[in-house]
Amino acid sequence: MTDIVLSLSDARLTLAGNAGPVEILHSITLDIARGESVGLVGPSGSGKSSLLMLMGGLERASGGKVMALGRDLTAMGEDDLARFRRGNMGIVFQSFHLVPTMTALENVALPLQIAGVKDAIPRAEAELARVGLGHRRGHYPSEMSGGEQQRVALARAVAPRPAILLADEPTGNLDAANGAAIIELLFNLQAETGATLVLVTHAPDLAARCARLVRLADGRLA
Ligand SMILES: Nc1ncnc2c1ncn2[C@@H]1O[C@H](COP(=O)(O)OP(=O)(O)OP(=O)(O)O)[C@@H](O)[C@H]1O
Ligand SMILES: [Mg+2]
Repeated sequence: MTDIVLSLSDARLTLAGNAGPVEILHSITLDIARGESVGLVGPSGSGKSSLLMLMGGLERASGGKVMALGRDLTAMGEDDLARFRRGNMGIVFQSFHLVPTMTALENVALPLQIAGVKDAIPRAEAELARVGLGHRRGHYPSEMSGGEQQRVALARAVAPRPAILLADEPTGNLDAANGAAIIELLFNLQAETGATLVLVTHAPDLAARCARLVRLADGRLA
């Protein structure tokens, strides 16, 4: 089995903008090894979120190839991709994407229940407590601050102990103390499970913890 967990070769992303097609990512070639922690850094608009979406199979490459755990994401159908993500990836979006009609606890329990975990609710309670939100378990996303929603999203992503964790500015809405706690949680998870981390960040303290930084500028590796 290969030690390369994520592999992009000449991956490109073009989206249909209002004024015609926009080239978002140009020829990205990048390998990420098992257990690596990679920080994606670069100016706003440089393509960090887009690159994370390609790695998660949430955007389809317009050209080139994206492989994850030896599977070619560019050749998979939507159902296969969704199943693959559920089994192998935790994703924290820049805008959280919590289910608005579910409480914090239900949001965190959801992927565990889908995975058929028997003690999903107690497990979810423990995960919420780990991000300091045990007392918010019954709150809906609209009843939580941005930073609280961000921590719920993180708890949900890590609860199934994914092999690959993709997180878009996971400390972006947090104060220094909560940010530091989330950084500990991420790297403890990596130490416990050998997960591969890909983190988009503007935060120097989070970037400093990553084993490798990948810089983007104008949709290219810099
Ligand atoms: N649906 C879309 N159609 C056209 N252009 C888009 C679309 N989505 C994103 N873009 C453009 O793609 C570029 C990269 O966006 P992306 O969100 O990946 O940047 P980013 O590096 O994550 O920025 P930030 O740090 O602000 O989150 C930007 O110039 C953006 O305007
Ligand atoms: Mg972004």
